[in-house]
Amino acid sequence: MLALGIETSCDETAAAVVDGDRRILASVVASQLDRHRLYGGIVPEVAARAHLELLQGLVRQALDEAKVGFADLDLVAATTGPGLIGGVIVGSTFGKALSLARRLPFLAINHLEGHALSPRLSNGISFPYLLLLVSGGHCQLLAVEGVGRYRRYGTTVDDAAGEAFDKAAKKLGLGFPGGPAIERAAKSGNAARFPLPKPMLGRPGCDFSFSGLKTAVAQAVEALGREPTAQEQADLAASFQEAVAASLADRTRNALRRFIDEHGPGHALVVAGGVAANTRLREVLAELARAHHNGFVAPPLALCTDNAAMIAWAGIERHALGEEDGLDVAPRPRWPLDAEAPPAPYAGAKA
Ligand code: KG4
Ligand code: ZN
Repeated sequence: MLALGIETSCDETAAAVVDGDRRILASVVASQLDRHRLYGGIVPEVAARAHLELLQGLVRQALDEAKVGFADLDLVAATTGPGLIGGVIVGSTFGKALSLARRLPFLAINHLEGHALSPRLSNGISFPYLLLLVSGGHCQLLAVEGVGRYRRYGTTVDDAAGEAFDKAAKKLGLGFPGGPAIERAAKSGNAARFPLPKPMLGRPGCDFSFSGLKTAVAQAVEALGREPTAQEQADLAASFQEAVAASLADRTRNALRRFIDEHGPGHALVVAGGVAANTRLREVLAELARAHHNGFVAPPLALCTDNAAMIAWAGIERHALGEEDGLDVAPRPRWPLDAEAPPAPYAGAKA
């Protein structure tokens, strides 16, 4: 079984070739960061045009690196949502055209399902497990019970965790993307100097909120009455990182308790998404899992951030269950993994 995966839902254009034995024969990712940095964030129209420009070459490159041709493929899997709709249209239409021309099964993959199943590709873990998905666009706790069986325990009522890192970094003058910049600055910072609120701490449930913390960072900077010094940047970055890690750990603790109630002990806690790169976050989550006698799995970074190998793998998993999608399947900007989950508690929430 050989799958071509295509990912274009945000600002990474990616193509990958994966086989049914969990081997990643090629996984190429073209980051568009340089095109967006100028604007201090991702511009959807710029992203869509870049996907269009880059995708064909990346698919060629993935096939070349894997040393296979179109004729060797058994299926095409493309992200069909959720995400920036321009990019999703580019990738899914490309995948459909390829499947039509080569008479290959087409699998329309939910990007979140790609993240959710990625620890099975990297670590071969079995169901069920609890997933904390933390990226620039998503912040969710999901019980992953099987292929197509996801239960959302909680989501963000405003910003995603990565979005919060990006916005806080902007306020601190640390540049984009904010996560790596804040982590770097925090290394020489004193987290106790500027106490910041730890959002949702101690509240029941598994939802997240970060906009209050973002405002607190802005207010701390304003209170200085001038540009922060490098030391103040570092101290605020350290305090911010600590607050986010504490908040994520608190919400994940509630989710772990519920998950253990429902599924028994001993299953894995998995973290995925770009924010999973954060060393401090990994530390607190590993400690949390240990305290609950659960395993802790953090897929390698290349599989945590957006990539097409996880999309190809989700295609393989679904195809193994006899699934296939029609070419009339519509690209979706919003596509919750758990259709039964109640909407996030407040207006402006993300699916
Ligand atoms: O998963 P990803 O590559 O793309 C999507 O958003 O889908 O995640 C990117 C996000 C950005 O918001 C970035 O600031 C954040 O992940 N990030 C980090 C770190 N590295 C990347 N956040 C905290 N600490 C990091 N080391
Ligand atoms: Zn993602």
